[in-house]
Amino acid sequence: MSISFEGKVAIVTGAGNGLGRSHALELASRGAKVVVNDFGGSVDGQGASASPADKVVAEIEANGGEAMANPASVSDAAAVQQMVKDTVDRWGRIDILINNAGILRDKTFTKVSLDDFNAVVDVHLNGSIICSKAVWDQMISQNFGRIVMTTSAAGLYGNFGQSNYSAAKLGAVGLMNALRLEGRKYNVKVNTIAPMAFSRMTKDLMAPGVAESCKPELVSSAVVFLCSDDAPTGEIISAGAGAYTRVQYIEAEPVYIGPDASADDVSAAWENISDMSNAKVVTDVGTSMKNVLSKLPRK
Ligand code: NAI
Repeated sequence: MSISFEGKVAIVTGAGNGLGRSHALELASRGAKVVVNDFGGSVDGQGASASPADKVVAEIEANGGEAMANPASVSDAAAVQQMVKDTVDRWGRIDILINNAGILRDKTFTKVSLDDFNAVVDVHLNGSIICSKAVWDQMISQNFGRIVMTTSAAGLYGNFGQSNYSAAKLGAVGLMNALRLEGRKYNVKVNTIAPMAFSRMTKDLMAPGVAESCKPELVSSAVVFLCSDDAPTGEIISAGAGAYTRVQYIEAEPVYIGPDASADDVSAAWENISDMSNAKVVTDVGTSMKNVLSKLPRK
């Protein structure tokens, strides 16, 4: 059965280029009305132009779809509110939000300025917060919503020279982890994509040969699945070059040392504490606490 978004309305941030453009085209080709949001700056977030978003809208319309351009910066709360209002005024609802907009200001932590750190956090993390918050009440009142965050292997695992980006990208996962719980009862599902794709952002990082396999459209296939009626919630899918992986946290079996455990005791037990051979997937706070408390001696 093929996934359809007939009658649905989507906002895709940073949709003037790369992955966002591809997500927007794919959603529109399946019937969604799409807001193509993009402030149109450079990879490091300088400058602004309406033309990347306008071009994608023209592409969607040329394919017979319906779209409107929006030039808001995702970190400008007032402009995002206006985007949401314009969307609801025109199309009456918002079913899908893809938080995709992103910039890079790579420098080691020694060299990065707080301005460059904050600029990256502002787009990736604050932008995801601002846009999610702006559509949240609408989705709850509709009893339907799909939000997709965009993380990165750099966020999940850390990357040299990307402390700002890594912190912001894992923050988006934290946001998803809480929103999936608050949205569940209202059929608002929140998931995260960890993409790998050739784009202007990654063109200097990818070897020829790899680049050709890493088509943004292959990431969009996972993103569009996460926007569908049958989407799971609270999942992270790592996607690139046509391969798809589920990412989860695991916790090792807790080691109970005792009520007077000292730093020396923890040091002595580190080999056991760090032994992952009986590690288990943990997806909620309750299970994590229960695992720890289950090791306490029974009174
Ligand atoms: P891209 O540079 O081609 O596209 C990003 C778009 O976001 C641009 O069109 C830019 O104008 C827009 N944008 C930036 N700041 C904005 C703001 N404040 N408000 C509105 N729009 C804004 O980059 P790409 O590769 O398509 O990246 C898309 C997302 O995927 C980003 O969040 C990126 O961090 C993430 N990502 C990409 C990977 C890849 O392999 N391409 C790997 C991991 C994560």
